[in-house]
Amino acid sequence: MNKILKKTELSEDIKDIIVHSPVIARKRKPGQFIILRINETGERIPLTIVDSSPEEGTIRLIFQEIGKTTYALGDLEEGDTILDIAGPLGNPTHIEKFGTVVMVGGGVGVAVVYPVTVAMKAAGNNVISIIGARTHDLMILEREMASVSDRLIVTTDDGSYGMHGFVTDALQALIDEGVKIDLCLAIGPVVMMRAVSSHTEKYNIHTVVSLNSVMIDGTGMCGGCRVTVDEKTRFVCVDGPEFDGHKVDYDELIKRQQAYLPQEKQSLEQYLKEREKGCALDAKSKELQVEK
Ligand code: NAD
Ligand code: FES
Repeated sequence: MNKILKKTELSEDIKDIIVHSPVIARKRKPGQFIILRINETGERIPLTIVDSSPEEGTIRLIFQEIGKTTYALGDLEEGDTILDIAGPLGNPTHIEKFGTVVMVGGGVGVAVVYPVTVAMKAAGNNVISIIGARTHDLMILEREMASVSDRLIVTTDDGSYGMHGFVTDALQALIDEGVKIDLCLAIGPVVMMRAVSSHTEKYNIHTVVSLNSVMIDGTGMCGGCRVTVDEKTRFVCVDGPEFDGHKVDYDELIKRQQAYLPQEKQSLEQYLKEREKGCALDAKSKELQVEK
């Protein structure tokens, strides 16, 4: 159980792994996530389930190496095992035939948009997808997104590929074309989801965002993932992860996401220093020696 069967690098710091997890593979629905812990002393991190194969008993996870745990996860190889994976967690995305849906994915958030896009297309929607990255090398899942979209628009911030600009520029161009949008779903950095939501609000386009707050237990017990939506306290793990994009208090979410930045930075620096010395990972157990 939880063995990494395949590992691929999508870009320098974005990894794609196939993990043996038969129960989750059988039960998961688009929009749901898991919380994993690499070893007994490790922190728990949420990751969206990108895809699954119930027949093979596998789930697919895509993550960006940004903190100690994601670096340590990226250091695991095919054949290594993740200590525990809890899930599927969170509410599945509400899928129905809405009409024309615009799926907006920013950066590594495209990995979260993809499974929902598959489901929206299968439900008979006219799917227009917009995916954006800072530069061409960081663009992920373009082929997969093209295969489940009626139209795909690709943007890069630096103009190295596709349309030059942010995903919001492509969204505005669609609106200017006169495309009637029945639903917009946006997933990526919080600033992107805030920008998309403020664009669509002006045109009364119902918008759903998927929030990635700090999580610990994933079951509504710890309060770590608390956000304010429509002036009410909600827990992303049990009430979400998707919410009405026009009602989220983004400033509070950004503040809460940044609450532990100094500690996260220190922890990552220590991990990378130990890794450099070759003792961060014990070759056999893959336990993080630095934490002991
Ligand atoms: P990034 O900063 O490179 O941005 C990706 C794209 O988002 C950009 O190319 C641009 O098109 C758009 N964007 C960014 N800022 C924008 C703005 N101010 N206005 C309009 N559009 C904007 O993204 P990255 O570095 O790949 O993303 C990492 C972030 O995504 C992390 O903060 C991570 O926490 C978050 N993330 C969120 C989810 C989720 O479920 N919401 C999932 C995975 C990662
Ligand atoms: Fe603890 Fe949501 S992660 S309440």
